[in-house]
Amino acid sequence: MTASTWTEAGIAHERFWDELAEPYQRDTRISITDFHYGPLIPGDRELKLLPSPLAGRRCLELGAGAGQNSLFLAKQGALCTAVDISAAQLDFGRALAQKEALQVDFLQADLDQLPTFQEPFELIHSAYGIPFSSNPEVLIRTCAEMLVPGGHLLFSMGHPVFAGEWLELDEDQGIFLSNYFYPRPDVREGNDSVVQAIAYPLSECVRWIKAAGLELLDLREPPALPVHLLSKAETDERVPYYSDDWADQENELSRFPVVAIFLARKKTQT
Ligand SMILES: C[S@@+](CC[C@H](N)C(=O)[O-])C[C@H]1O[C@@H](n2cnc3c(N)ncnc32)[C@H](O)[C@@H]1O
Repeated sequence: MTASTWTEAGIAHERFWDELAEPYQRDTRISITDFHYGPLIPGDRELKLLPSPLAGRRCLELGAGAGQNSLFLAKQGALCTAVDISAAQLDFGRALAQKEALQVDFLQADLDQLPTFQEPFELIHSAYGIPFSSNPEVLIRTCAEMLVPGGHLLFSMGHPVFAGEWLELDEDQGIFLSNYFYPRPDVREGNDSVVQAIAYPLSECVRWIKAAGLELLDLREPPALPVHLLSKAETDERVPYYSDDWADQENELSRFPVVAIFLARKKTQT
C-alpha cells in the first residue's frame, strides 16, 4: 500500500502525526537503552517482559514513531522492521539510527492495511500504536498470522480506566469514568485532521488475543515511578519514556494505570 491508496482515516493520521512529529520527538525523552511501554512507568529492564535471547530475533514494531524500541532491540542484535504511517516520524527514526550506527528497516505503512512481509516475525511489538488502528481485533489477528509458532506479541494499549476525567472532590480526588465499556475516545485535532485512539475494556483485548489463536502470558498495569523524587540521572535510567507534560500528571499516573501491557505467544500447535 502507498499513501495514495490509504483510507480517509489513514490520510488523517498521516497529516496529524506528520505535524506532531517534531514537537513530539523534541519534548519526549524516549530511551534507546531500555524498552518503553508508556509514560513515567518502568521500562523492560524492570518489567522483564521481552523474550530472550534478542540477538538474531526478527522483530516488527507497529506505530513505531521514531522506532526507539526497535533501535533498542537492534542494539541487542535483533533484526528490526519499524512501521509507522507518518513519514516525518520515520525520518526522525532514520536520522537516529544513522547517528547511533544501528540498522532498522523503517517502513511507511498503515496499520489497517499492512503489507505482506516475506518472512514471519519472532516478535511483534507496539507501544501505544495499536489503539490508533481502526480495527485492533483484525490487526491482532493479522499479527498472529505474521508470527512464527512460538513467536511473541507484546503491546501496550491505553488503559480504559485512565480514559476517565480527573476530579477533585472535597478532600479527595480520583477518576470519574462514566462508562467502562465505552470509554471516551482520546480525540486529537491538528493539521486540519481529527484522529482518535480508543481504550478498550481489558476483557475485550484478551478476547481478541485468544480469538487470534494466541495464549496470553502476562498482563501488567504498572503505576508511574515517583519521578519528582528522582534525579535527572535516575529518571534517565529508570523512566524510558518521559516528558514534562506527563510528569505534571505523576499523581494521576501513580494512582491509576495509564496503559495496560499484554504479552501473548502464538501456540506451537493449533
Ligand atoms: C503515541 S505515538 C507512539 C509512537 C511510538 N510507539 C512511541 O512510543 O514513541 C502513535 C504512533 O502511531 C502512529 N500511527 C497512528 N495511526 C497509524 C496508522 N493508522 N498506521 C500506522 N501508524 C499509525 C503515529 O504516526 C505515531 O507515530
